[in-house]
Amino acid sequence: MYKRQHKKISTGGRDEKFGLSFNEFTTLCKKINEMKNLRLVILGRQGSGKGTQCLRLSELYRTIHISTGDMLRAAVKAGSPMGLAAKEYMDAGLLVSDEVIIGLIEERLQNDDAGQGVLFDGFPRSIPQAESLEVIATVSSVISIEVPDDAIVDRIVGRRMDPETGEIYHVSFKPAPTEIQDRLVQRPDDTEETVRARLGAYHTQTAPLADWYSERGLLIRIDGDASIEQVGASVEEAIASISCCLLYTSDA
Ligand code: AP5
Repeated sequence: MYKRQHKKISTGGRDEKFGLSFNEFTTLCKKINEMKNLRLVILGRQGSGKGTQCLRLSELYRTIHISTGDMLRAAVKAGSPMGLAAKEYMDAGLLVSDEVIIGLIEERLQNDDAGQGVLFDGFPRSIPQAESLEVIATVSSVISIEVPDDAIVDRIVGRRMDPETGEIYHVSFKPAPTEIQDRLVQRPDDTEETVRARLGAYHTQTAPLADWYSERGLLIRIDGDASIEQVGASVEEAIASISCCLLYTSDA
């Protein structure tokens, strides 16, 4: 079956499942293989580009993207009691309780798809959350996207979301196509005042996680103060090196 598919796309066609050329197909296979079974935490302050990069990576590596921010916003939209309680914290730029977040993750990791590669976006965000994650899943590595506070406010205040596709845009750094601009929305917590509170929570509760993971030999720092494409290339390089390291150590 594989041979037939391989022959078909190598003679210049496009494969039926993904609609890719031979070169695109082999790149995809390589990427899927690199991310297979990897559980990566994407760490970084608000607006560092975690969501932007995870959306790209989940498409590129066909992997699972678990964003606690997205899960909470879905609960708010559904009007569930948990969502309504979480909304107060989110609007104030504060972290939702560890108990609620860990419950969400435990539930999500029970899905069948969670056995494959996973990208954790915005989780863990405190040492107690990281300790709980250690109990329920093995983290392969942690990629910290590093951006100075000065760059954050502009990124957050200019962010716009497409409610239909979930795509993240920016009024200057990543403008949306003209035909969808009318439907874009701004997150209620994307105000200058709230982002300063969110950065405060980051410095007190989330920043210590970098040292925590570094002490465990899991942290890779990426310069996030560059274009979306440059940051993406650095993250892909990091994933390739993590995958090689794991292969090397498992062969040893
Ligand atoms: P969440 O939704 O996770 O928000 P956040 O952590 O504040 O992160 P952001 O989504 O703001 O930033 P991002 O790094 O994803 O940046 P993005 O790619 O969008 O959480 C929301 C709230 O939920 C929290 O405040 C908290 O209350 C609660 N919560 C969530 N998880 C929790 C947890 N584990 N524990 C407790 N509470 C939790 O990019 C931002 C903008 O910049 C975009 O416009 C983008 O286009 C642009 N951009 C991206 N990269 C670049 C680049 N390289 N150059 C220029 N512009 C760029």
